[in-house]
Amino acid sequence: MFPTALLTRKRRRPEVAFVGGREEVKFRDVRLFLVERRMGKSRRNFLSNLARSKGFCVDDALRYTQSFSKVLKAQDGFRETHDKHVLHISWFTESMSAGRPVPVEIRHYIQNPAVDQRSCTHPSAKPESAVSPYACQRRTTLDNHNKIFTDALEVLAENLELSGNQGPSLAFRKAASVLKSLPAALRRQEETQHLPCLGEHSRAIIEEISECGSSSRVEEILNDERYRTMKLFSSVFGVGPKTAENWFCRGLRTFEQVLSEPSVRLNRMQTAGFLFYEDISKPVSRTEASALKIIVEEAVICVNPSATVSITGGFRRGKEFGHDVDFIIKTPEAGQEDVILPAVIKRFKSQNILLYSDLQESTFDLRKLPTHCFDAMDHFGKCFLIMKLKHEQEMDARAGKDWKAVRVDLVAPPLERFTYALLGWTGSTLFLRDLRRFARLERGKLLDNHALYDKATNTFLPANTEEDIFAHLGLEYIEPWQRNA
Ligand code: CTP
Ligand code: MN
Ligand code: MN
Repeated sequence: MFPTALLTRKRRRPEVAFVGGREEVKFRDVRLFLVERRMGKSRRNFLSNLARSKGFCVDDALRYTQSFSKVLKAQDGFRETHDKHVLHISWFTESMSAGRPVPVEIRHYIQNPAVDQRSCTHPSAKPESAVSPYACQRRTTLDNHNKIFTDALEVLAENLELSGNQGPSLAFRKAASVLKSLPAALRRQEETQHLPCLGEHSRAIIEEISECGSSSRVEEILNDERYRTMKLFSSVFGVGPKTAENWFCRGLRTFEQVLSEPSVRLNRMQTAGFLFYEDISKPVSRTEASALKIIVEEAVICVNPSATVSITGGFRRGKEFGHDVDFIIKTPEAGQEDVILPAVIKRFKSQNILLYSDLQESTFDLRKLPTHCFDAMDHFGKCFLIMKLKHEQEMDARAGKDWKAVRVDLVAPPLERFTYALLGWTGSTLFLRDLRRFARLERGKLLDNHALYDKATNTFLPANTEEDIFAHLGLEYIEPWQRNA
């Protein structure tokens, strides 16, 4: 854990009551020095301005604390005393969220608390290495060291999901997510003791896999006809668990049987799903995503030269492959978000690169915020598309086509909602689910794709960047590539 906030309690009143000329200093007996390994100027400015806006005094004179390692070695003049502390950035983020300096606890120290530990307010505080039960307090990269366990737990989760048991399914998803965040492979069963979100059932599966190399329950599911058929059917675009189950219960087992069954009526989405199944069931590569970005960008700019396009979803989290490509469009003037998607779709049609489109117009209404219902989708204008992507290589004459069908999602929020929408669409689903839960349960705030609302003050909290949202929630910033929970 690198970042540090240096805190000193001042004896004398500061000579300047105003710092930076504007913000009033509310907490006169606390002075902050920000020291962080490899901290860039923009991050320092961001953190300093945030603290000042909340009434903290931030000292810019960092000369004698330039070196992070020197600070930790207590050399070069900075020594922890009863009124000087070298603290982890968690003290800073919690204080920003609380809007006041929170009491210093043992867990806030980087090392060697110089104060008498009895004076700390939380003597039973957990060690810093403890894994949080909230995915938004864990850094989960794509580097999964526990794949043999997480794959198994996800099969169990998927099986329950396909039979409509969302609650129990979530328990296995959470267990898998905790294991994905670990910096190394589990070696002994005891190592799971201190981990959160691992129920009896998950532990038993982990134990069996550690001992036998596989889980009999998972093997059973993988060979189960119902599971295999449901998984096959729900892999079709537009086919959810309900339809898949309906087809299974009617004795259907293959696509051929579904397509030749006279009583089966496919909707438009499912028809497209079957028509382009071969292409859209294949993963989309990062190279293909980049090629699509150029096409989407070109169309968007043609419609509105001041609009910009960013990749979100799994590719923004650093994934090399995805089931689709997600784009978010930023329009700088109010109202433009409503016209851009229909115009872009029209252009794709005229270019003959649109195979399927489902445009959902915006139902966003500022007056209906905050929403207390989080399972629902957001209200922004969006579209779910299947597009033609031309192959880079020469056309395969036998295949008879020189393109691949690819699923593409576009969303166009109003400018002042952009940051919340970007955060929501970046995912992962589990990361965002826990971020919302954390906001509500731990901070009394409501977060969704539209806004962040503080229940205590009945105000909406503004955010220009994702960092602002994490700061409002008193959370350390988690980069998109660390949100693969
Ligand atoms: N999302 C959302 N509102 C929607 C649709 C999607 O907030 N109406 C969010 C999802 O919760 C997810 C993200 O957008 O966090 C991307 O969704 P999706 O493309 O389904 O998943 P990815 O994480 O991109 O995974 P993949 O690589 O398989 O596409
Ligand atoms: Mn995606
Ligand atoms: Mn998507």
